[in-house]
Amino acid sequence: MRFDEELASRASVVNAWLEDYLRPEEGYAKNTIEAANYSVRAGGKRLRPIILTETHKLFSDVIMPSVKPLAVALEMIHTYSLVHDDLPAMDNDLLRRGMPTTHAKFGEAVAILAGDALLNGSMETALCALDVSKGQQDPDYMNRIVRSIRCLYDKAGINGMIGGQNADIMAERRASDITLEEIEYIYAKKTAALIEASMMIGCILAPESTDEDVLSMEQAASKIGLAFQIQDDILDVEGDEAVIGKPVGSDLRNNKTTYIDHVGIDQAKRDVKSFTEEAVSIVQGYTGSDDFLVRLLISLIDRKK
Ligand code: IPE
Ligand code: IPE
Ligand code: MG
Ligand code: MG
Ligand code: MG
Repeated sequence: MRFDEELASRASVVNAWLEDYLRPEEGYAKNTIEAANYSVRAGGKRLRPIILTETHKLFSDVIMPSVKPLAVALEMIHTYSLVHDDLPAMDNDLLRRGMPTTHAKFGEAVAILAGDALLNGSMETALCALDVSKGQQDPDYMNRIVRSIRCLYDKAGINGMIGGQNADIMAERRASDITLEEIEYIYAKKTAALIEASMMIGCILAPESTDEDVLSMEQAASKIGLAFQIQDDILDVEGDEAVIGKPVGSDLRNNKTTYIDHVGIDQAKRDVKSFTEEAVSIVQGYTGSDDFLVRLLISLIDRKK
C-alpha cells in the first residue's frame, strides 16, 4: 500500500472511532450537539489520534482497548480548540477543514457551547477507558489510564494549549516586540502540547513502557509540535486555500508575529526539516526507518495541508 493510502486508512479508523462517541442529535440541546458533531465530522487530518496509536504500537504488540477512548478524547479537545480559535474574538476565521467555521454556520453562542460540549465530552469519553479495561483489574494498568488522563488535561490546559492560546492572543495585541523566544514558547504550548500528549499517552498506555520512554516521546513530540506550527505559519503565507481548507493570510490580518517574521521563510523551512529530523532520530531509537510513524513524521515536513 502507498503511504497516502495507509494514512487514509488510519484516518478512516479514527473517523469510525469518533462516531462511536458522538451524541445523537436530539432533545433540547440539539443545536449544540449538531454544532459539535458538525465540527468533528468536518474532517481534519486526524493526526493526533493517529500519532497516539502509532506511538502505542512502538511499545505494544497489541492495541490496548483504552487507546480508542483516549484517542477520541484528544481529537475532541483538538476540535474544540479549533472551534474557539476561529471565533470572532480570537482569529475571526470563516473557513475550517474546507467548510464554514462552526460560528459561521451556527452562530457564536452555539459555537461557544459546542466547544464547551466537546471539551466536557472529551472527559466523559476519556473516562470510558476505565470501563473498557475493567476486565483487566490490574492496578498497574488502571494507574496507567489515570496517568494518561492526567497527561491529556495537563497538556490541554493552562500549562499547555489554553496557556499557549492566551499568550498568542496577548502577543497579537503588542506585536512589535515579540522575541523569538516568546514565539517558541507560544508554539510549544498552543500546538506542541497536544502533540506531546499524543505521543506520551500512546506510550503510557503500553503496559511495558517505562517513564524514560514517556520522557523520550515527550521530547520527540515537542520538536514535532514546533515544526508543525512553523509549517502551519508557512501554509498561512504560501498555502492554497482550497487545499488547506482554511483562509490564507489569517496571521497577517490578525497582526500576528510568527516564526517566519523572525528568521525568514527559507530558514523557517530549513528549521521545520531539522526539528523533524531531531524528533525522528529519537523515534528511530525504538523502531526501523520503514515504520509508519517515522514515515508519517517525515511526511509532515512538506505537508501542503
Ligand atoms: C491545526 O491543526 C491547528 C494547529 C495546531 C496548527 P491541524 O493542521 O492538525 O488541523 P486539522 O485537524 O487537520 O483540521
Ligand atoms: C492554533 O494556531 C493553535 C490552536 C490551539 C487551535 P493557529 O491559529 O495558527 O491555527 P489555525 O491556522 O487557525 O489552524
Ligand atoms: Mg490562533
Ligand atoms: Mg487560527
Ligand atoms: Mg495558523
